[in-house]
Amino acid sequence: MGRITMGTGLLALALALSACGPKAEPPMTATQLAALAPADGRIAALYETSCKGCHANPAAGAPLVHDKAAWSPRLNQGLPVLVSHVVTGYKGMPPGGQCAACSPQDYTALVKFLAGQEAAQ
Ligand code: HEC
Repeated sequence: MGRITMGTGLLALALALSACGPKAEPPMTATQLAALAPADGRIAALYETSCKGCHANPAAGAPLVHDKAAWSPRLNQGLPVLVSHVVTGYKGMPPGGQCAACSPQDYTALVKFLAGQEAAQ
């Protein structure tokens, strides 16, 4: 009995400590990432068949959708630079982000959605 009580106490302590950590938001699970989609249906369809494969996949090495910490330094470059990086390709990302049907406006909307800036629309 004594050991069980102590184990429970340690668990409670660990939970309390993690709740007090400096970063309040835990990383999203793969299921939560997969559930995110742009509000606009046409943009959502483009997203589904291109960006999502990497940007909602924690194993892809891409900044994850709605991951504020990952996007904020990239957003500092300015939206036009980010959009141009998608068009020309950037490090692990192929040119066009695997979206043959995307227009420049579509890329802008998709980058805004990925970076969690969509609410401004
Ligand atoms: C095949 C995988 C893949 C696909 C598909 C993909 N990306 Fe990416 N993307 C990446 C990776 C990997 C990075 C990180 C590159 C780095 O900084 O190392 C990235 C980075 C980015 C960046 C940040 C560029 C910068 O300058 O920091 C933007 C913006 C972006 N992607 C938008 C998109 C959009 C929009 C789509 C869909 C049209 C898309 N990506 C599709 C893999 C992908």
